[in-house]
Amino acid sequence: MTAGKKILGAAIGALLMSSVSAYAETIKVGIIGPFSGPFALQGKNFQAGVEAYMALNGKSVKGHDVEVIYRDLPAANPAQSRALAQELVVKEKVQYLGGVYFTPDAMAITPLLAQANTPLVIFNAATSAIMNTSPLVVRTSFTTAQTTTPLGKVAVDEGVRKVITVVSDYGPGIDAENAFKKAFEAAGGQVVEAIRMPMNTADFSPIMQRVRDSGAAGVFAFLPSGPPTLGFVKAFNETGLKKAGIKFYAPGDLTQESDLPALGEAAEGLKTSFHYAVAHDSPENKKFVEAATKAIGSADQLSFPSVGAYDGMHVIYKMIEATDGKQDAKKAVDAVKGLSWTSPRGPVRIEPETRHITQNIYLREVAKGSDGKYFNKEIQTFPDQKDPGLATQ
Ligand code: PHB
Repeated sequence: MTAGKKILGAAIGALLMSSVSAYAETIKVGIIGPFSGPFALQGKNFQAGVEAYMALNGKSVKGHDVEVIYRDLPAANPAQSRALAQELVVKEKVQYLGGVYFTPDAMAITPLLAQANTPLVIFNAATSAIMNTSPLVVRTSFTTAQTTTPLGKVAVDEGVRKVITVVSDYGPGIDAENAFKKAFEAAGGQVVEAIRMPMNTADFSPIMQRVRDSGAAGVFAFLPSGPPTLGFVKAFNETGLKKAGIKFYAPGDLTQESDLPALGEAAEGLKTSFHYAVAHDSPENKKFVEAATKAIGSADQLSFPSVGAYDGMHVIYKMIEATDGKQDAKKAVDAVKGLSWTSPRGPVRIEPETRHITQNIYLREVAKGSDGKYFNKEIQTFPDQKDPGLATQ
């Protein structure tokens, strides 16, 4: 082929491409999450949130069909996370990436975004610093600093002056430990000991013994929601610490609704702070819970990753609308800076400077409903909370 023919060929190709993209093009969205293994229920909640959003808002935006492609990442595994993101971008030609349960997996994807011209909308991973690693990340979940901070004063107001902190030794645990210490000590409390556990800790009785030995009046804890939180709350009860009156403070990851049937009485009365409770009383949440329950198949399985995914899809739909289906990551992200809406969790906004979600944080208590089922009952609202974790970096 001559050079002239080659150029002509390329020009025709470009013309065809642009004329195709002027018409409705299917927009692919790649969602990475734990869909199998011990954390599968968290991934199922991503999917329920996505499906609920599409059931209530349609499966196309401005005439562009939206196709969601799921990829399974059962446990925190940065190398696999990076490989899945690459495969979705290069082979599947997704225009958007979403999901991501664990912080290390998010950190492995963000360096790829600029070259891939692809935004990442995080549905869960909750370490503050993720947002500093790429201008193309937007987050619709929470940070542990954001959910934890109001608890410091709550503990002091309850007369607790000495607390021991116990966290999983990685990003969101360290952020939670720092945020609690800062807020608690500012209110006049004292952290007497800080324990960081390996992420895969499964036997919590030695930890509970250290809590008891510390003489602290309360324990603050963070672990990633799933089998670790279930095991930790069970151990807190079974080792007698709950009965002994040791106060328990944690973000809502530790009492996610899908754990409550298995925890039963062991969770009753536990106070946590969080951005979302399935029992949140609003028309938006009623609609959401109905659609997400239908998608997941059982009301008992619904938990917070579903709302991160639901709002994440809202953000992705707005991005598709703003770019009219064309792949322009910067334009897509710019379009959602400052976006505000009423989420099932309450009023929210994407902060333009950080691209993280500003939202109410609620203090809740595990209570038994009239139907005999346990739920997170909202008892106090801390309105319009930004991520304090980012402010301190
Ligand atoms: C995280 O790895 O960022 C993470 C995982 C589970 C949670 C919270 C944060 O419940």
